[in-house]
Amino acid sequence: MRDIEGMRQRIQHLKETRQAVIVAHNYQWPEVQDVADFVGDSLELARKTATLDNPIIVFCGVHFMAESAAILNPTRRVLLAESTAGCPMAEMIDVDTLRQWKAQYPDAAVVAYVNSSAAVKAESNVCCTSANAVKVVDALREQRILFVPDRNLGAWIAKQTRKEIIIYPGFCITHFRVKPEHILAAKQAHPGAVVVVHPECRPEVTAIADAVLSTSQMGRYVKASPAREFIIGTEEGLIHRLRQQNPDKAFFAASTALLCPNMKKTTLESVVSALEMDRYHITVEPELAARARRALDRMLEIV
Ligand code: 13P
Ligand code: SF4
Repeated sequence: MRDIEGMRQRIQHLKETRQAVIVAHNYQWPEVQDVADFVGDSLELARKTATLDNPIIVFCGVHFMAESAAILNPTRRVLLAESTAGCPMAEMIDVDTLRQWKAQYPDAAVVAYVNSSAAVKAESNVCCTSANAVKVVDALREQRILFVPDRNLGAWIAKQTRKEIIIYPGFCITHFRVKPEHILAAKQAHPGAVVVVHPECRPEVTAIADAVLSTSQMGRYVKASPAREFIIGTEEGLIHRLRQQNPDKAFFAASTALLCPNMKKTTLESVVSALEMDRYHITVEPELAARARRALDRMLEIV
């Protein structure tokens, strides 16, 4: 049997003795979210880690997030709680492909979703998250934008802006699994519920949702909404937070397939091991980090 309370106490002790801070993405298991000092979406976590002065940052999320934290905090030791927690979408584009693509469109600005490697960020003009993508695109002087790597977020931006968006065909393997029939079945089961989905979902899904929002925007939206029931079209980890913050409202997952296998690799055991064994240290080569940081800083200046 797992000793949950024992692990919680051990994490608290190790955190204090090592002056570590634990940050977790909204998609982490509830037990991990509950031991974190900060829980948030990609944008909130990037902003937060840029202001921290703890010598150690333990990141509970996926590789690109810890890499961004390491780029923004070069003097801190950033640990990713699970070394194999990567994002398949981020791995769908590499630097050589991006360079070839850029050569075809020399007048375009490259906007990289933060779900990308440091090397891809370094080749980009600016980063964005799902919370600020339209704002970032509209803030650029270029009319033509190359957007990498998420085709669904790209399509969502293209609907909201007058700019020309040329979209790379990557996608999230988790959000991709939600189909319109899942939304329609959930609506039939919960007729009064408001449908809120993430822009990583397919265009056929975003088209029938009441709202298309990043995970933190969903948090603010459901809090402010007079509705009592919500169908949530994003990784199911967010529902834990929504329930905690809105005990009087009901939340239903849009599909049982909304589980990101990489986000779910991190457990309390991973956090204990990361702190005890000082692993897995994420580093980015300084010259590459400096170039990737320009794209991240530019995003943080815009929003
Ligand atoms: P955010 O809403 O935090 O941007 O989450 C999207 C995501 O898939 C992170 O991997
Ligand atoms: Fe990547 Fe999708 Fe998992 Fe986010 S939810 S880490 S985009 S696979």
